[in-house]
Amino acid sequence: MMKIGNVKLKNNLILAPMASVTNLPYRLLCKDAGLRYSEMINLNALSRGNKATEKLCLTCKEEKPVSFQLFGLRTEPIKKAVSMIESKADIIDFNFGCPAHQVVGVGSGAALLKRPEKVGKIISTIVGCTSKPVTAKIRLGYDKNNVVKLCKIIEDAGASAVAVHARTYKQGFSGKANWSALKELDLGIPVIGNGDVTDGRKAKKMLEICDGAMIGRAAIGDPMVFSRILKYLENGSVEKMPGLSEKVGWFLDYYKLALKYDLVNLHTLKQRAQEFTKNLRDSRIIRKELNKIKDVDFMIKYMESLR
Ligand SMILES: Cc1cc2nc3c(=O)[nH]c(=O)nc-3n(C[C@H](O)[C@H](O)[C@H](O)COP(=O)(O)O)c2cc1C
Repeated sequence: MMKIGNVKLKNNLILAPMASVTNLPYRLLCKDAGLRYSEMINLNALSRGNKATEKLCLTCKEEKPVSFQLFGLRTEPIKKAVSMIESKADIIDFNFGCPAHQVVGVGSGAALLKRPEKVGKIISTIVGCTSKPVTAKIRLGYDKNNVVKLCKIIEDAGASAVAVHARTYKQGFSGKANWSALKELDLGIPVIGNGDVTDGRKAKKMLEICDGAMIGRAAIGDPMVFSRILKYLENGSVEKMPGLSEKVGWFLDYYKLALKYDLVNLHTLKQRAQEFTKNLRDSRIIRKELNKIKDVDFMIKYMESLR
């Protein structure tokens, strides 16, 4: 099993960080992932004591090990931000891959891929103020593949692992992830391969190239993707995709966890309900009904009626 610094993973399948998706309740649903990443956390806002940002840092012992992902640009607030998450996170990750305009526009996220020396500076700053393992999540490069150089800088700066989404910033989410670029990496730290891992067959292939396989979009609305992949890796079995009643059950589990952690809001619940009921025979009808709902209690009753 993969080790990141002194943190031993349960298995080498990893839930990707996803803003507005991988909050604590969702991470708990993905119980068979070997490691789960938080949503990206704005280190500036965190260090200023922003309450909404602090809420992104909720955790509990059942989800261990967990990686908290920071993003930002300036190194000065890093020490404060790290001190605020250090006791909660098993691993501290930094985001060098986010392509969102509001993030890249101010020079952070994937914009940092244009500045490899700054990437190294950020990692060494974090390493310098925590005893927790530090990791980086990158893309292959900004507009061209520069992954070998970026990874070397990250390793030399003291990181304990690197996760690579095998696309450049310019590629966004288009085309196929370029897994052959990952084959060029020869590092002394674990490499986690990411991009288009959706099922057991692809996870197996990714694990032939990299130490870990990180799964993002395939885990949206399908937290059990990890258990199905693990079974495939164990004995080659391909399980049937779950049906409506099982998926509604997951949604209701999510709701209970959101209640427990005081994270219920209509917008997020609606988003989850849409995701859990995608790709089913009645998805279109359900989506239309969900769009009309303006009240949490009513939505829960509607979802219960689908079981
Ligand atoms: C809705 C959504 C939110 C995301 N948020 C983040 C994020 O907060 N931090 C990050 O590093 N990557 C983020 N990503 C990128 C994913 O972690 C992952 O790199 C990407 O989706 C490719 O993997 P996949 O093909 O398995 O989805 C996000 C992706 C999606 C679809």
